Amino acid sequence: MVALEAFEIQGPCRLEGEVAIEGAKNFALPAVAASLLTDSPVRITNAPKVQDLHTLVRILQGLGAAVEWEDGTLALRARGVRRQDPPYDLVRRMRASVLLLGPLLARFGRARIPLPGGCAIGQRPVDMHIAGLRHMGADIAVEHGDLVATAKRLKGARYTFPKVTVTGTENLMMAATLAEGTTILRNCAQEPEVTALTRMLAAMGARIEGAGTSTLTLEGVKELQGCTFDVIPDRIEAGTYLLLGAMLAGSRVAVTGVHSGDLTSLLDQMADAGVSLEIGRDRIAVTANEGLAARSVVTAPYPGFATDLQAQYIAAMTQAAGVATVEETIFENRFQHVMELQRMGADITLSGRTAVVRGGARLSGAPVMASDLRASACLVMAALAADGATLVRRIYHLDRGYFHMEKKLQALGAGIRRVTVEGV
Ligand code: EPZ
Repeated sequence: MVALEAFEIQGPCRLEGEVAIEGAKNFALPAVAASLLTDSPVRITNAPKVQDLHTLVRILQGLGAAVEWEDGTLALRARGVRRQDPPYDLVRRMRASVLLLGPLLARFGRARIPLPGGCAIGQRPVDMHIAGLRHMGADIAVEHGDLVATAKRLKGARYTFPKVTVTGTENLMMAATLAEGTTILRNCAQEPEVTALTRMLAAMGARIEGAGTSTLTLEGVKELQGCTFDVIPDRIEAGTYLLLGAMLAGSRVAVTGVHSGDLTSLLDQMADAGVSLEIGRDRIAVTANEGLAARSVVTAPYPGFATDLQAQYIAAMTQAAGVATVEETIFENRFQHVMELQRMGADITLSGRTAVVRGGARLSGAPVMASDLRASACLVMAALAADGATLVRRIYHLDRGYFHMEKKLQALGAGIRRVTVEGV
């Protein structure tokens, strides 16, 4: 038997107060990978102290990079990197390790990275990462579960992504900064985290045109300099707390330190569902007064509705009046949370990639199991609305991307505490 942490939650809760939002995990990860592109020092400020980032720091240290936490700043220097083969035991925990492929190839001409493998939300292939790097002259083979990649010097290439891929865009962009000649990437992801990475790479001396658009043009340079770069606010953490404030009757929650412009699709959806919002440039307040109206949504690449908010949105729709359909178009298996919500009394039916949520049923507390990062958040949200006690097991999924969630919720008045339970 092993001892694992869980959240014990007593619902229903009414929340009141402000939540300071951390730096975005999904920008901090490529930013750390980008530090491999130069021998000079890189400082990443407002870095979130979430588990995924600690894992990536350990991986870089294992390769020989110097990485120190200086309060909320990561001080990195890749001058001492002697290895290009991160260990399977760490890579398997954090599939975004694939982001090391482009920088290691561009800087050292070789990389051996365990194939990340699938996860709860889908089989998560990296075929587009591989295809794009091959276009740039890399030899990439799969050997005993590892991606083994070599390239004398990457060459600029033209590549159009068959599908929008966030880390695929980030990987090829980083590789292209040091490639010989011009690279043109089309059908790129336009998430704020991708745009922030183009700005960070430019601050390091990369020559990039098209930031924030679907076409990126890069002129390779001989070497890059260091930089100091601030992590953008985590729009998914912010969206999670905003949806929570909207679904718990009588609540009034504000998120601070956000970029409201990165949340437009969610804010439009919430306004359409009758939520009263006060939207400032870096502060958004939500009041759950007359309750939520059911509104349907389809996930899409940015600027569409984020797949990373789909589970949290379903939790909110269980408290809405009416029927909402939620269609997941990005991942093939991102409804693990639905079965657990049904155990709490939610009236949801699944057909293919669409969940039909009939709101209004009272939820009741139950022992539930987290399966992936955003599903865990969804279960915590539902538990805060439910009558009675809920135990959410395997919250290590949650700690990967949410910093001190229970402390932030306790400060808002939630009945939640972190406990240790026997079992798996
Ligand atoms: C990033 O994952 C995020 N992770 C995910 O956040 C997020 O859900 C996802 O983008 C979509 O927005 C980080 O940024 C670290 P994709 P990524 O490549 O890049 C398919 C979270 O909760 N695909 O944009 O891995 C893929 O299977 C995490 O913080 C291929 O087929 O996602 C998916 O169906 C979860 N071949 C679709 O494209 C490839 O080579 C989009 O995936 C690459 C992707």
